[in-house]
Amino acid sequence: MSSKSSNLEEFHATQAPTDRPSKRPRHLCSLGTGEVIHVLAYTARFDKINEFEFVVQGLARCLYTMESAVTDVRVCHPCCGEVVFIVTFVSKAALSRFCTGPQKTFEEQLEGLISTGDDGKKPSFQRSGTMMPAAHTLDSLLDFLKANVKGDDHTAHDVRTVSKEIERWFPRPSEYEQYISVDPSNPTKYTRNVVHTDENMDVILMCWPAGCKSSIHDHDASSCWVTVVEGEVHEVQYQLPRLDRKFLEAEQKDPANAIGTCGQLKIVNTACLDTGGVTGTYANNDIGIHRVENRSDKLSCSLHIYAPPLRKMKIFDEEGNVHVHLATKSNPVDLGDECGGNECDGVCVLRKGIFDVDAWNKNRVK
Ligand SMILES: [Fe+2]
Repeated sequence: MSSKSSNLEEFHATQAPTDRPSKRPRHLCSLGTGEVIHVLAYTARFDKINEFEFVVQGLARCLYTMESAVTDVRVCHPCCGEVVFIVTFVSKAALSRFCTGPQKTFEEQLEGLISTGDDGKKPSFQRSGTMMPAAHTLDSLLDFLKANVKGDDHTAHDVRTVSKEIERWFPRPSEYEQYISVDPSNPTKYTRNVVHTDENMDVILMCWPAGCKSSIHDHDASSCWVTVVEGEVHEVQYQLPRLDRKFLEAEQKDPANAIGTCGQLKIVNTACLDTGGVTGTYANNDIGIHRVENRSDKLSCSLHIYAPPLRKMKIFDEEGNVHVHLATKSNPVDLGDECGGNECDGVCVLRKGIFDVDAWNKNRVK
């Protein structure tokens, strides 16, 4: 049995169900735009097809010209005597206004012309729901990162684009639970669990037991993206303080063991990150330094992407001390094939999965 699975079993053995956070869960649809799709299907009575078609034609014209609170209108006409309206609204409130207004009015126009419904004016099919976003799985997020996060330092990264893709990850316990662990010798200390590592990045699931906190640290030349997976963490951001000459000289002579003092640490922002609100943050040395804390009484987990891998950092304390800390090189974890070939545009990973959309898109079917 691996030490990781052993850790996990011990972790589950010591965690009652209530020790796992449950408040403010992230919902799949909350990752989307909030738009609501409304589908209505009507079928004509066999002896009223012409009258039905005439009304449907007028309805389609009205729907196509709707602008307020509508983002898209499609009318599907499978055959004479059948129609399906697909209308996308900006919100549930807009849909509700439509159902009690225009829909009621045009169903009166269809009364007696359609074949289903108790009172002869209801659709044969009606369903509405929030538009489902193109959310990432953990695998598709990793594929995106592998294809798009490269370079020797944080200036090579398109931070905003990567942050947006990370926000589109919908973390499912079935995907990340295998990386949760605790240190049996020190169960109140946070743990670092390697999800993926290569020359461009480390992807780490950090587990934060109740009340635990990291040191105040910088990120050397790396970008650091953080997103909360379970529970909540606080990020305390500090301005990068001035370092004394003793430290700078020591760092030049022996970059791995420099010790010195720094100016007073100044907090510039404190943010609570949780699964239902602001989910993530980003840091690099041009922005400042930070510490991550779990101020709650339950376990919290967060995914951290360090690019390039963070092998050296400076640790600061409130008393004005600073020293260099060398991170242990992580063992690589094989998560499967990289996004293959030169044809990958960094978005193709989103299209793979249930069927081969790229193959479909390459075929010129007329
Ligand atoms: Fe950090």
